[in-house]
Amino acid sequence: MIHSRRRFLAGGAALLAAGYLQTAWAKAAPRRLPIPRLVDGSDGAPVDLQIRPGHWSFLPGVKTPTLGFSQGYLGPTIRTRQNSELHLRYHNGLAESVAVHGHGLHVPGDVDGGPQLAIAPGEGWQPTLSIVQPAATCWYHSHTHGRTGDQVYRGLAGMIIIDDAMTDSLALPRRYGVDDLPVIIQDRTFDAAGRLVYSLMDADEDGWLGETVVINGAIAPVATVPAGKVRLRLLNGANARFYIVAFADGRPFHKIASDGGLLAAPVPLTEMEMAPGERCEIVVDLSDGQPAELLTVFEDQFDDDDEGFVSGFRNLLAGPVDRRPQPALTLQPDPGLPAHRAPLPASLATITRPKAHEIARTRDFILAMQPGKGGHGAHGGHAAMDMTINGAAMDMNVINERVERGVWERWRIKADQGAHPFHVHGCSFLIDAMEGDVAPPDQRGWKDVVVLDDDDWSEIVVRFDHPASAKFPYMYHCHILEHEDRGMMGQFTVS
Ligand code: C2O
Ligand code: CU
Ligand code: CU
Repeated sequence: MIHSRRRFLAGGAALLAAGYLQTAWAKAAPRRLPIPRLVDGSDGAPVDLQIRPGHWSFLPGVKTPTLGFSQGYLGPTIRTRQNSELHLRYHNGLAESVAVHGHGLHVPGDVDGGPQLAIAPGEGWQPTLSIVQPAATCWYHSHTHGRTGDQVYRGLAGMIIIDDAMTDSLALPRRYGVDDLPVIIQDRTFDAAGRLVYSLMDADEDGWLGETVVINGAIAPVATVPAGKVRLRLLNGANARFYIVAFADGRPFHKIASDGGLLAAPVPLTEMEMAPGERCEIVVDLSDGQPAELLTVFEDQFDDDDEGFVSGFRNLLAGPVDRRPQPALTLQPDPGLPAHRAPLPASLATITRPKAHEIARTRDFILAMQPGKGGHGAHGGHAAMDMTINGAAMDMNVINERVERGVWERWRIKADQGAHPFHVHGCSFLIDAMEGDVAPPDQRGWKDVVVLDDDDWSEIVVRFDHPASAKFPYMYHCHILEHEDRGMMGQFTVS
């Protein structure tokens, strides 16, 4: 089930249309899906990550200036394992500070990589992370104070895969780069010279929306895969975009994992929404030998559709060919490759929700956007827009909440306008309500992002098992990175 939702005040139809029609560049020769190099850190060997400027060819023959971790754009996929130590060695080769956060990791505040842990130019940071949580698809990305949106947009993000013994024993595709693919979905705008266009100052209420979808840094790439079951580790790594993910031929797929790991059982879907920061692992069956085109349609296209975007999206697919969305990624089966054909397991994980009496307290969070002191200038005053949670914008010197370790809490979250993906560090949580409704089956697993809006409360139950001090607190924030950078973020301790 996908909600229909109201978006923010602004949003021009022309701009939105340009996005899904894609640029002329995308019509050039199809490109292979780049598979980030896999670095296995599960044996405790240090993983070196050089934060550096680079170049990347998004567009044929054009070198775009970018940032990356030990590569031109994005970073290697880091593999680790439950009950192992992950030793990261960052070095900052940029002329500006960078903080790097492990999104989705259950680690103490002093190794979480929040903005307090910024690495100065020329310096390093070597956190050792004890991985205690179950298998999940997580990620690492810039979390620099006021600069997260810009640095992620230019490339400072990568995937982390956590394995565990339980997941290893399940019949799931697990050959990295073969039938288990990292799929980092982002959107980017390029200028006439092929440079990335980004401006926090010029971003409107929706945040910075790119015009062209890139998958692992490639426009409309093709991946050759076995003609069997293929697992996609989808990561919405966009700054601000909500996508509807589906296949062009409407083929069903199964969602097997959400942000924090496996669902109780595979959930059959034909389309799903992905908010910024979210991860969804899906398994799609290609044993029919037909190519499968993955669509990542801009959810904001269906703003004005009273029937909600499922029907709007289906009408779009059934509509005139030239208005149909272009595939973001094509999976091309090769019958010569050994394929995973085993049926999906009927059950995947045991998810235990706390009983009502175990929930010790409730906290409320209200996310708000108001025109700031700068008023309505040339850009409608967006640059001066104040973004707050419970009336306060992010202040590095203020601890907004103090949480007791090991105790379940209910957090209720709501916005004064629009939809926001709310993210919490240092935990996975369970969703009790999404925008006032019961969470659909594919949102009933472990999560670290919950979508909320201005209609009704979203509610999560959460427990923190690791400490975070006032010196190195955890963050909760909106994962629209321009909202985060403008202050829609708070700090909390766990003790
Ligand atoms: Cu993915 Cu605080 O971030
Ligand atoms: Cu995070
Ligand atoms: Cu927001």
